[in-house]
Amino acid sequence: MKKKLIAATTAHFKSVFQHEPESVFLSPGRINLIGEHVDYNDGFVLPAAINKYICFAISTSQTDEFTLVAQDLNETYRFNWSETLQPVDKMWVNYMLGVLHQMKMKGFSFAGLNVVFSSTIPMGAGLSSSAALECGFGYALNKLFKLGLSREEIALIGQQSEHTFVGVKCGIMDQFASVFGKKNHVIKLDCTSLEHEYHTADFKNYTLVLFDSHVKHTHLTSGYNDRRNEVEQGLNTIKTHYPSVQTFRDCTENQLESLRNELGETLYKRCHFVIQEIRRVNEAVKALDQNQFEQLGNLMFETHEGLSKEYEVSCAEVDFLVEFVKNKKQVIGSRMMGGGFGGCSINLVEKGSEKALFESISKAYREQFGITLSYYKVKISKGTSKVKKKIKN
Ligand code: GLA
Repeated sequence: MKKKLIAATTAHFKSVFQHEPESVFLSPGRINLIGEHVDYNDGFVLPAAINKYICFAISTSQTDEFTLVAQDLNETYRFNWSETLQPVDKMWVNYMLGVLHQMKMKGFSFAGLNVVFSSTIPMGAGLSSSAALECGFGYALNKLFKLGLSREEIALIGQQSEHTFVGVKCGIMDQFASVFGKKNHVIKLDCTSLEHEYHTADFKNYTLVLFDSHVKHTHLTSGYNDRRNEVEQGLNTIKTHYPSVQTFRDCTENQLESLRNELGETLYKRCHFVIQEIRRVNEAVKALDQNQFEQLGNLMFETHEGLSKEYEVSCAEVDFLVEFVKNKKQVIGSRMMGGGFGGCSINLVEKGSEKALFESISKAYREQFGITLSYYKVKISKGTSKVKKKIKN
């Protein structure tokens, strides 16, 4: 699949620009085992890059014109480096312009560029196709023009692009996972310091399966930024009463409980979820390291409960997917994954039982919602990279 994607992107580049691309890059999507909506709350997360990619075929051009081609959408966008870069009405363009804008602000200057990109990451499924686009493009510019940026700087540029040109105040998890992914490992990322460590993701008799609800809500319209404002407000109230608390990490259950009336039910629930989720990630890492998969699975179910009832970022369709597998003994953990309001559930499933499970869940899902469910079996892969081999078409 990877080879096919590289070959198709390269061939399209050749047909548009009449020559081979100078370089080809792959930028992966991501999953997240646990640690949802805590990357912007000073928490820890446990994501990994997966074997679904955006492929970029790129060459510098002789003019100062940039030509960006979204192969899958059959759309092209052209502009000059000397123009003032501003958000436009095409979302995919904004992810890339945002990156260039960040580069401009860092004082970099580029000759023109010809880019074709194509993707196997389903869009709007919570697999971070947007971070793959931002970071893959940033990574490619860094290599092509020898900018000397670190992987961390590339991830941060991607995040800033999303804040400024897309308007989603996302955390750092998606960009970090896409750039720092390591084959067969999850990344335990401390979202405050960006310190990270890799943990082996070997689930022995179990495997990770994603069910795509095909409910697509962009974070912008779905309340992602609202959640950010709510937790910020909640934390400010906590800090006023407990000056020793700097972040949610320092806040105890009792402290939060004592402010329940003052916070009001909504803010209380949001903050309660965050505190619990930070604890769960730490417990999940231990469970993973000790091969205690049932414990890991239970934590995933707990996370879903919190995301659905307290943080309120799930939806009826994804709740259904998690509820359905709860009493199936082949499934030991399940929860909604990513920003929410749709997208995928991530499931820890007994090896060999995936197909039968998919058949029964997709039938029930279609009966309930009239939607055809998709199923992805993902492999944990390395982060953004340059494709070394020359691809023959
Ligand atoms: C989106 C954001 C991430 C993170 C997740 C929820 O994917 O881009 O920064 O907040 O939602 O965990």
